[in-house]
Amino acid sequence: MRCVNLDLGPRSYPIHVGDGAQRVLVPLLEARPRGARLAVIADAHVAELHLDSLLAALGPSPLVLTVPPGEASKSLASAENLYDALAAARIERDDVIVSFGGGMVGDLAGFVAATWLRGIDFIQVPTTLLAAVDAAVGGKTGVNHRAGKNLIGAFYQPAAVIVDIDFLTTLPQRDFVAGLAESVKHALVREAHFLDWQEAHADAVLARGPVMLEELIARNCEIKAEVVGRDEREQHLRAVLNYGHTIGHAIEHVLEYELRHGECVALGMLAENHISCARGLLERAAAGRVAGLLMRLGLPARLPRAIDARDILRASQMDKKVRGGAPNFVLLTKPGETTRVADVSEVEIVAALDALQPT
Ligand code: GLY
Repeated sequence: MRCVNLDLGPRSYPIHVGDGAQRVLVPLLEARPRGARLAVIADAHVAELHLDSLLAALGPSPLVLTVPPGEASKSLASAENLYDALAAARIERDDVIVSFGGGMVGDLAGFVAATWLRGIDFIQVPTTLLAAVDAAVGGKTGVNHRAGKNLIGAFYQPAAVIVDIDFLTTLPQRDFVAGLAESVKHALVREAHFLDWQEAHADAVLARGPVMLEELIARNCEIKAEVVGRDEREQHLRAVLNYGHTIGHAIEHVLEYELRHGECVALGMLAENHISCARGLLERAAAGRVAGLLMRLGLPARLPRAIDARDILRASQMDKKVRGGAPNFVLLTKPGETTRVADVSEVEIVAALDALQPT
């Protein structure tokens, strides 16, 4: 088992990664004030598969609240249903919320924890690769608004993150592969030698052996923890994690969440690399290397259906990364290095999107 610490002074927390990591919950919860209760907010599908195992680790019956799987649940309406249930159960300030599921449920449960009684503790137990390597770590919580993804939310750090590799065994391969997009992103923006590692171990990673998974997830958490530890509220460094996301989020929104988030990030990275290459910021060979790895991992290289570039432009203007009306882009300059620009033109976005349109 590996433990990565996210260092944020008094709000620091451990990220436990490994087979059977859920057993760490017992000592964590025993350290809480006596009588503290637990509310588990779980993805209904994950609950069907793994709730019994989690409850065995948690001890005396917690309140269990389930939300339907899918991005549509990441809404203020779902948050309100959860507040109703917390109120009915009289969940108090010393009580704890445990989120159990992928990025959707982690973001939603984290947002509810951040806002219920002005904030109660929560623990993230991610069950998808994407949540384990990215969404569960770093305290971005929130829900979607009809105008765009994650537009309502709060920075609110969990008290711990527990990644039990066992829970990932039932993850469909498509979802597993989607999570790898964020892992490639971490390597590209922060650690070129981790890109070498991913290329060298691509087949082993896809085979999903527990040792390989622990290594992959722990390395991603180390990168994320280092970035968030230095810039929790995205004033400067943390913005690098938005590489691939300006166009990626816009695609996700325009396709009405038909693709997985990771798949959209992969397409976003390809499109944004297209812009970098056209500007002479990134060598075509490096962009080809990225495209080659994404394809080898099974991530999409093309949109599933044609999209009007104007819709992407509109969606990217509603992005959280907009400053003074212009979307911010993090562009790759070489593996491990990026630059931030706010002057990407419509013509550049249209050309980048053209390269992704179905043939
Ligand atoms: N997923 C990007 C971040 O947490 O900053």
